[in-house]
Amino acid sequence: MRPIILVGFMGSGKTTVGKELASVLGCPFTDTDQVIENSEGVPVSQIFAENGENYFRELEKDIVENLDDTHFEVIAVGGGLPCYNGLMDVLNKKGFTVYLKADEELLFVRLWHEMEERPLIEGMGEHELKAFISRKLMEREPYYQQALITILSTESTVSDIIRQLPPHQKN
Ligand code: S3P
Repeated sequence: MRPIILVGFMGSGKTTVGKELASVLGCPFTDTDQVIENSEGVPVSQIFAENGENYFRELEKDIVENLDDTHFEVIAVGGGLPCYNGLMDVLNKKGFTVYLKADEELLFVRLWHEMEERPLIEGMGEHELKAFISRKLMEREPYYQQALITILSTESTVSDIIRQLPPHQKN
């Protein structure tokens, strides 16, 4: 059975939803940021600061290229991952992709309180963060929208995803 892969902007709830979905489906949960932090031994923000974003994108590429497309698990990928190195295509080949969609206002509220661990937005002011979200979302949505299904990030997200999974993806 193929993995279920969650894509979406920072703050769309991929990790929270992914953990819950995995627990309902009784399968493992993987977060690509966590995999990178474990293998590098430092937080993502430190990798950005010390090695730069391109290095981080190469690490993301390695993970996707080595992803086992026969292992049933839920994978949350970093917000930028599908938008570099043609990785959205690879994700679509390897798993059942889900775009977790959240509107700009919700993303702002969530990210405003979680800026420290996210190097791309760390230290931004309110207007700067709002402008960043608008611009980046416009740039990235064409990639996210290539996911097999799109689900709105709400309280019922997990059951909405489960309802839309094809029977062979439900365990
Ligand atoms: C990034 C999103 C982050 C993390 C890194 C870069 C991005 O992951 O991979 O800070 O480019 O949008 P989350 O989407 O899990 O916050």
